[in-house]
Amino acid sequence: MAHNSYVLILDYGSQYTQLIARRVREAGVYSEIHPFGRALEIIRARRPSAIILSGGPASIYDPEAPQLDKSIFEFDIPILGICYGLQALAHALGGSVYQAQEREYGRATLTEISPNSRLFEGLRESDITVWMSHGDKVIVSPPNFLVTARTPDTPIAALERLDGMISGVQFHPEVVHTPDGPKILANFLFKIARIEPTWSISSFIDSSVSEIKNRVGDAHVVAALSGGVDSSVMVALVHRAIGKQLHPIFVDNGLLRKDEAERVHQALEERLGIVVDHIDASSRFLHKLRGVIDPEQKRKIIGNEFIRVFEEEASRFPNVRFLAQGTLYPDVIESVSFKGGPSATIKSHHNVGGLPEIMRLQLIEPLRELFKDEVRELGIALGLDESLVWRHPFPGPGLAVRILGEITSERLDIIREADAIATDEIRKAGLYRDIWQAFVVLLPVRSVGVMGDERTYEYVAALRAVDSTDGMTADWFRMPHDTMAVISNRIINEVRGINRIVYDISSKPPSTIEWE
Ligand code: XMP
Repeated sequence: MAHNSYVLILDYGSQYTQLIARRVREAGVYSEIHPFGRALEIIRARRPSAIILSGGPASIYDPEAPQLDKSIFEFDIPILGICYGLQALAHALGGSVYQAQEREYGRATLTEISPNSRLFEGLRESDITVWMSHGDKVIVSPPNFLVTARTPDTPIAALERLDGMISGVQFHPEVVHTPDGPKILANFLFKIARIEPTWSISSFIDSSVSEIKNRVGDAHVVAALSGGVDSSVMVALVHRAIGKQLHPIFVDNGLLRKDEAERVHQALEERLGIVVDHIDASSRFLHKLRGVIDPEQKRKIIGNEFIRVFEEEASRFPNVRFLAQGTLYPDVIESVSFKGGPSATIKSHHNVGGLPEIMRLQLIEPLRELFKDEVRELGIALGLDESLVWRHPFPGPGLAVRILGEITSERLDIIREADAIATDEIRKAGLYRDIWQAFVVLLPVRSVGVMGDERTYEYVAALRAVDSTDGMTADWFRMPHDTMAVISNRIINEVRGINRIVYDISSKPPSTIEWE
């Protein structure tokens, strides 16, 4: 998509690189992340309005350290270096970086802010708290640079070239622990680089609707609708562009949560008037899964069967030339790995594997420039319901990977009821949005209990709730005991077949979020 102004973020491997891109977008400016090694190629092709160099784990003196190509200075584009980015700038321009043995980590207060600083314009010196996370530091500034801030431990906490075109900060303005970070970034974007803030979700909707219309023409488009946030928002967007030329297909594989099909119907058909093709294929899936207990085999069977059902259904529509998918920006960013050089980490979770090739379809991925929080904002702007837009992620193989052992309709009914109770109570406790994912797992274990005067011998279920930002790592959620108590009481009392609940207190790694 074409953007009026564009900030290029060069990735040197920091864990915060995505945050920089998000902060810039929150300021109303479109930004993209690319590996540092592709700097010149991207600059020539795209002419960014400004460049930000991210932090990174290396020391500038490491033999393999990612360097800054000095040709970058020939383009006369304003540059801001953050942490390692500052060190790389100083090193390239004739300054000196000290290789420290200890790290400085945590909050610090800036002192001696230069009255000539443009980065700190409008900020009160005494109050500027910043977040530090670095080892090395710049100790001699390059010629024609002014030191514009210090901290007690860092003699050069910010540097600005006299002409204002190049600046850098040792701290991290992109993290929440630097409360004035947004103001500092805004000074760079608007006062130094003189960019107009034109990026917003409504401008995104306008341009993406016209782009989809132009690309599709009078052809038809199919899309797999899962009931999750990404595919629902994608369908709402593409529908706004091409209306009935879009055919969203919702395959009920029998492995969905309670009332999921009904919820999709309400969210898209009743609220937005989007006609969804509902396919009840549950008996086909359950038949194929009979007797299967191996998790990877379950995944393979479900994936293959999905492709078959979807293809059969999609081929009923005439003139279909495109498949629309809800791929997001974090799935397409090529991030930098310092162990094996720059590498592409592209997840394929969202992709309906193999379908575009089998059906000879071109892909439309209208969300591939967006972060998850932007997708949620987009969903609301397109008229989707809050509760859908904030739903926890749900895996493609569904409840099949949450029933350990064989999948039967009896076990599916049990887990659906238990899971619905847990979700209901978590919502009532006001915890739903604080948790990345919460669900119930049905274990292939029975235990003895007593109900009334009778002995019971029923399943054990595990309650799992985790904190995470991207599902790659996760910590178990410290759920209040009162909430656990009510969930456990209700499940044991209301769901026939479960007489014991345990809480999963393992983090990822070394465990995973799902049990299979
Ligand atoms: P794990 O269990 O690997 O899960 O820690 C990380 C995230 O991915 C989801 N997940 C899947 N999603 N197909 C999917 O579409 C899958 O096969 C699959 N396995 C796990 C999981 O729910 C969590 O959000």
